Amino acid sequence: MSLPSHHPFSIEYTANPHPTFARAHGGDDFIEVPEMQALLVHGYDAVRALCDHPSVSRNPMDAGFGDAEALAQRMERWPTLESAALQMVNEDGTANTSVMRELLAPDFRPSMIRKMDETVHEVVEQVCAPLRSERSLDIVKTVQEVPLRVISRLLGIEDATRDADLFLSSAPDYFRGINPVASDTDRDKAELAAKTMFEILERTVADRRANPQTDMVTQVIEIADKRGDVHPDVLVRVLVILVAAGTDTTRLSTSLAVKTLLSHPDEMEALRDDRSKIKNAVMECLRFESPTKYLMRASTEDFEIDGREIPRGRLILLSLMGAGWDPRVYPEPERFDVDRDLRGSLNFGFGSGYCLGVHLARLQVGTLLDYILDHLPSNARVIEEGITWDPGNLSLRELTALPVEIP
Ligand code: HEM
Repeated sequence: MSLPSHHPFSIEYTANPHPTFARAHGGDDFIEVPEMQALLVHGYDAVRALCDHPSVSRNPMDAGFGDAEALAQRMERWPTLESAALQMVNEDGTANTSVMRELLAPDFRPSMIRKMDETVHEVVEQVCAPLRSERSLDIVKTVQEVPLRVISRLLGIEDATRDADLFLSSAPDYFRGINPVASDTDRDKAELAAKTMFEILERTVADRRANPQTDMVTQVIEIADKRGDVHPDVLVRVLVILVAAGTDTTRLSTSLAVKTLLSHPDEMEALRDDRSKIKNAVMECLRFESPTKYLMRASTEDFEIDGREIPRGRLILLSLMGAGWDPRVYPEPERFDVDRDLRGSLNFGFGSGYCLGVHLARLQVGTLLDYILDHLPSNARVIEEGITWDPGNLSLRELTALPVEIP
């Protein structure tokens, strides 16, 4: 049976959510998906309000989603994977990201990220080299290793070591398995991958304890030690969450940005001529084709928003791309405009969970775009019929192939 076109798992919505945006912005802002007990939200004001609302949680378990027995079974079969789920959880089961933010925030300040500039350039040059010589290539494959290599360097896993190879080869299986609707087979593979990644990071933490350096892991250990209440397992989990949060989002953002630029050759030329616009262009690319499908929230009590009653126990799916296409905030949203005023953008979320890696993300996507402008001519042609998507990801718009030919 085919899914309705607004359904989060439909190929139509994943590849082209605009008809659903038009419906939502035309007045139907809370679209129900009864079989998921879900509400889809696409309007800017509602998305912004619900990102960080007192009656919603970022952990669906807080709202009674998922029964305890099923969770216990999952914990038994996939213990590493479940314990590394993209939430830090308090002893009473509620979500807690404040420890993570406290440990990581100093490493993600703009001044620290500027120091990463050279590393990011090096990684981009190394990974994207095929763009210099190939006449036909898949952009998704070409750029996909950039964020993972940047993060593994940031974590102090040295290039060309056994750990670096293991880390790079395990991560894709791990990412596939943390998708909330991954198959059991994918989860089995992800459990093995998660174990490997945990072991590598445990080794890195142990090494930095013995030989402190001026790097991120050493700093995280120092902050944790100062607090005195951070269990060593939590420390490693924070690092794994970082890898999970920062890799796929960045990988997809870049591929989607290339897709957008190649379908707007005039804008691409203007950008090629004036690279000072890249910073804003990154944000406009993220608005135009967001890597995020939905942020997940759940209502922890009955409440009202925009005159609409929301009962407890609803899965609330917030579309950041829908918010970026809301014509009440971004006029003529279908116009790709690298000079657009993007103040108030929700590309990186809003409120207490706002993206910790925003500066690193903008640096990476900007560096990649700069490189692509150097090496990919505007007459490069996207092979439309070769574009593929994986619609079964609730959090991300998973573009899986973007073949391009260079005449
Ligand atoms: C273009 C790439 C990226 C995009 C579009 C993006 C987007 C987002 C969004 C929308 C959120 C909010 C999630 C929510 O409220 O549920 C978020 C959170 C987060 N991001 Fe990013 N992100 C990107 C890259 C990165 C990078 C490179 C890192 C770090 C290496 C990172 C680390 C994080 C972390 C740790 C959180 C969780 C913050 C918390 O729970 O308090 N992100 N990101």
